[in-house]
Amino acid sequence: MTERKYELLFVDDEQPNLQKLRRTFMNGYVTHTAQSCGDALGILETADIDAIVTDQRMPGMTGLELLGRVRETKPGIVGIVLTGFAEIGDLIDAINTGKVNKYITKPWSPEDLRLVVRDALEKRELARENERLSAELRAANERLRTENAFLRREMEVFPRDIIYGSREMDDILRLLRRVVGTETTVLVQGETGTGKEMVARFIHAESARRDQIFIPVNCGAIPRDLVESEFFGHARGAFTGATAEKKGYFEMAHGGTIFLDEIGEAPQELQVKLLRVIQESEIMPVGYHQPKKVDVRIIASTNRDLRAEVAAGNFRQDLFFRINVFSVTIPPLRERRDDIRPLAEFFLRHFSRKLNREAGRFGDATLRKLYDYSWPGNVRELQNEIERLVLLTENAETIGAELLSDNIRNIGPRNDSTRNAAGDLKTAIKELEDEMIRDAMIRHDGNKSHVARVLGISRQSLLEKLQRVSFG
Ligand SMILES: Nc1ncnc2c1ncn2[C@@H]1O[C@H](COP(=O)(O)OP(=O)(O)OP(=O)(O)O)[C@@H](O)[C@H]1O
Ligand SMILES: [Mg+2]
Repeated sequence: MTERKYELLFVDDEQPNLQKLRRTFMNGYVTHTAQSCGDALGILETADIDAIVTDQRMPGMTGLELLGRVRETKPGIVGIVLTGFAEIGDLIDAINTGKVNKYITKPWSPEDLRLVVRDALEKRELARENERLSAELRAANERLRTENAFLRREMEVFPRDIIYGSREMDDILRLLRRVVGTETTVLVQGETGTGKEMVARFIHAESARRDQIFIPVNCGAIPRDLVESEFFGHARGAFTGATAEKKGYFEMAHGGTIFLDEIGEAPQELQVKLLRVIQESEIMPVGYHQPKKVDVRIIASTNRDLRAEVAAGNFRQDLFFRINVFSVTIPPLRERRDDIRPLAEFFLRHFSRKLNREAGRFGDATLRKLYDYSWPGNVRELQNEIERLVLLTENAETIGAELLSDNIRNIGPRNDSTRNAAGDLKTAIKELEDEMIRDAMIRHDGNKSHVARVLGISRQSLLEKLQRVSFG
């Protein structure tokens, strides 16, 4: 790339002076000349002038007045005044207030003037570079501040790997490894506490974006009237109270990954806007007239049956198709019981360290109960249970089953043969369903919306099922 030559504008009412100036800067510059201030202003309209060298005393307007006018519209232009020795007094003010960068007294020598011009242009370059760097620094600082807040949370909440021991999880991770390197949108489905967010973080951490930010957002937790500005940001003054420009989650996640948690709970207005981001890769902050491009990988999660939500008219079908490009369903813990022990042992070590206790070990009966229990709250429930056990255990002893929470301790052994293993599959499934519903109703104090969510079914279908379940 050839470097752009500086463009100089000479202003003097006497033609011979202009010629001398031109000659002085024949090499290395593009030069323009004007015999009056009016001409000069005309040239400034069209040419990209870096510096003006002007005579002070001219008919109509002085050089100083000209520079004063120029400063108003083009403050970046260097102004140099050629002046008689006697007039220097007039210039002092102008120099002090920055209207003029340099002056040179007549008669001037070409070398001196060349030096003065070069020096002034270099100074301007430095100042600009400085300004650019500080602006970058300010922006970087701002970015770091938001990222730090997220990162700090990451460190606290998710310092670890996915722990598993089951074939089911192994299959899922193998499947996921096929999309981690791509930009594909991934939908992670599963009951509450199965590890959907963990999997989303895994995908991000294994992707090319791993060094960029991961931003988790709960789509159901943001008040309706804030949704738009939280997700897409707003301009300064976009509405009362918008005292500063604000970046939304999508812009913060630029270059990285956004995790749209509980996307099934996104209100309709948000669904429309999410569709737009996914389709166009651009956002429209509140108060903006031009969209902004964003480069964000999207991972979404839901513990609802989104297909059913689409059928029920609660979730947009077009959005569903867009996010359901590649979907994984994490089975509930009771369907991958081989994960229970490795997870329990992992949490035991984790909480022993965290709570500063010596890790004991699980007694056989304890392990048996942990294995047999149905874990409606999945891994999160297991994690809470182990934390509780660590708190209850004195140092380094075998953790006995009597320390387990009542509902876990009191379950009978899982005996698959009692469940009609040889009989009719439909009946067996119904029985299992009933047992899970009963269990969940008890655990969640009969809160039906909650239970429906935990079980991954709609509230309506829970109500129907409840009609046939008796609480004996
Ligand atoms: N395989 C795993 N290995 C280690 N920890 C796990 C695993 N799965 C889940 N966890 C832990 O269990 C907790 C719940 O996981 P996570 O938040 O990812 O679940 P979720 O499916 O997003 O739950 P919810 O639907 O309630 O949001 C987290 O603390 C997570 O670290
Ligand atoms: Mg979650």
